[in-house]
Parts: sequence; structure tokens; C-alpha cells
Amino acid sequence: MMKILVAEDDALLRDVIYNILVLEGYEVHSTVNGRQALDLFVSVKPDLIVSDIMMPEMDGFELLEEVRSLPQGVTMPFLFLTARTERTDVKKARALGVDDYLFKPFNAWELIEAVRTRLNRRKSVELFDTRTAHLQTIVMLTNVIETRDPYTAGHVDRVRRLALSLGFALDWNTEEIAILEFGAILHDIGKIIVPRSVLTKAEPLNDEEWEVIRQHPQVGAQMLEGVDHLRPAIPYVLYHHEWWNGGGYPFGLKGTDIPPEGRLLAIVDAFDAMTSDRPYRKGLSVADALVETRKNSGVYFDPEMADVFLKTYKE
Ligand SMILES: [Fe+2]
Ligand SMILES: [Fe+2]
Repeated sequence: MMKILVAEDDALLRDVIYNILVLEGYEVHSTVNGRQALDLFVSVKPDLIVSDIMMPEMDGFELLEEVRSLPQGVTMPFLFLTARTERTDVKKARALGVDDYLFKPFNAWELIEAVRTRLNRRKSVELFDTRTAHLQTIVMLTNVIETRDPYTAGHVDRVRRLALSLGFALDWNTEEIAILEFGAILHDIGKIIVPRSVLTKAEPLNDEEWEVIRQHPQVGAQMLEGVDHLRPAIPYVLYHHEWWNGGGYPFGLKGTDIPPEGRLLAIVDAFDAMTSDRPYRKGLSVADALVETRKNSGVYFDPEMADVFLKTYKE
């Protein structure tokens, strides 16, 4: 249940606000001034503070400043209640970085709407922050792996960009795109088991060495198995070396038996591999890699996705 801390010195208005918000299903803690609200702030841990500006003992602005100075109050959302005539108050509030007011007098519906809007905005900001934090952590992890292999430097980032633009071009939804980004970044994470000597070998690899490389999709998938928010990215890791004609690994799946995540990533991963230099060969030009992709459409790659890729790449 969302918690709202209310500071309002007018007893009648305080009761009205309390009742409206309780009826809406919020847990409400009401106080008579800023001082009391501040005392309750730490123990209540509210999701939102609704505060009058003019109050005895500690007014709304002082409350805001005090809350902002606490570690748990830095991003605490405020909704100020103020009379339309208190122009100077509004100016002062703007200066303090507050842009949420509800002007008195307000009706129940306006209060509910203002509270809901403010809480929703907080939720999406939080979601964004968490997502960004996760992304940065896994980028760090893949950077660690990339430093072991100077020849693939930048591969993960290029695959991520190519995969995102192909995902958008295929009209995948926001949720799918979000998972796609994680999957593209993590797709080669299982390469952690490949010895550095194999990754940097100047000669073509022998059978034994290929065998180790071919394990990386399953090893990577196992690594993500125990992480709740990364598990949806597993299909990218597990199926990105499957080929449309059934000649890929680890399972040798064919056509649409390969999950779409794997089919998409196979195209952009191979495209970047073709254009990159390797110890034992020089990379293709972009033009030649596009020709190769076209040639291998329906052989290695899902022909419909390859079509979209070629079209979007040229644009
Ligand atoms: Fe791979
Ligand atoms: Fe790769």
C-alpha cells in the first residue's frame, strides 16, 4: 500500500484530505505542521508528502529543505497545497525545485488526480533508475570479458546497437526491446570459459578448441538461470549460433523452431563478426558483409528478418 504523509494545520481541511485519501486506498499519516511531519518522516517512510505551505512552527518550505537533507529524502516527491493568491510562495517553491502544486480550494477529484500523477511519475523514474543500474552493471561485466580478447573489442556494443535497430524495425514492443538490449549485451557472456590463449590464437582453431567455443551459449545460459531479472534474456544467449538450415549449435534447430530472439541475434552477431578483423583473417567491408548476409538469407538466417535487416541497414 502506498503511504502518504500529510502536513496541514487547518484541522477541517486536514480531515477532508485524510478521508479522501484513505477512501482511495492509501495509508495516510496526517500531521499539523512541518515539525511533526519531519518527526514522522523517518519512521513512516512515505511514498509522497502532501504539504501545506503556510504552517506554524515549521512551514512547507522548511519541511522540504529538511527532508531533502536526509539521505532517504533526496528524491522524495512533494505535492504542495497553496492558495492561488500566494504568488510569492509559488516563486519560492520554483526556486527550490518544486513544480507540483494543488491550488486551494480543490475538490476531491483534483486531489486524487494530483496524488496519482505524482506517484506514477515516481514509479516510472524508479523503474528507469533500476533498469539503468542493471544495464551499467552488465556492461561492466561484459567489458571485463572483452578485455581478455582484444580482437573482439567493441563487439558487444556494436551488436547491441544493431540488434536494437533491427528490433525497432521489426516493431517489437517496449518490453521485448528492453529484454533484447539485455540479451544483446550478454550474448557471449559464456565465453568466460574460453581460455585467453584460444581467444587470441593467430592460427585457425583445432577441433578441441572449437569444442570449448561451442559451449559458450549453454554456459552463458546457465549463468543467467539464477538471476530473476536476466532470465528472460536467456534465449538470446542460448540460440544465437543456431542456423536457419539446422547447421548451427548447440542444438541444430531449424527454421522457426529457433526462437525469434536467436534468429534476430544470429544476423547482427554474424554481421559484426564478418566486418571485424580476426587474428587469422581480415574483416570484410560493410558492402561485402551486406552481400554475404543477402547470400546467406534462408541458409544461416531467417529470410524475413534478414530482409528487414538489409533494408534498415541501408537506410
Ligand atoms: Fe557467440
Ligand atoms: Fe557474439
